[in-house]
Amino acid sequence: MENHTGAGVKPGRRRFVEGLLGGGLFASAVSFLYPVLRYIVPPTVADLGGDEVVAAKLGEMKPNSSKIFRFGSHPGLLLLTADGEYRAMSATCTHLSCTVQYRNDLHQVWCACHNGLYDLGGRNLSGPPPRPLEAFQVHLRGDEVVVSRKREA
Ligand code: FES
Repeated sequence: MENHTGAGVKPGRRRFVEGLLGGGLFASAVSFLYPVLRYIVPPTVADLGGDEVVAAKLGEMKPNSSKIFRFGSHPGLLLLTADGEYRAMSATCTHLSCTVQYRNDLHQVWCACHNGLYDLGGRNLSGPPPRPLEAFQVHLRGDEVVVSRKREA
């Protein structure tokens, strides 16, 4: 007869149950730790981009609006100002890397994470951002709005 202390349980059965419990605990620990480790050590992201990208088609955007485009492995922000001038810059906030957005009510670039503000040239105006956003060049090629990295002089 078996009792609750396990004294009457056969050793083979006990080892099997202990193995199941140990395996379950191990699987639980791995399922908890894996996402934590992936967060702490993010995968390396290759910058797939070249030095220019077609960010929009001519006529696609209305004045005083913006769109996020992909520039390599990072987001870029393309603006069409109320005056009809294209501007482009990195959309990665220089504070803690949130994605910024154009505020057409303020005519400024805004980071929602900590209320950082930039002007239309990407210069940091207020809030915690320590540096300007990287500014890009914009030119038209046919009906394409092409954004390119500024070259060092
Ligand atoms: S991440 Fe943009 S203001 Fe903090």
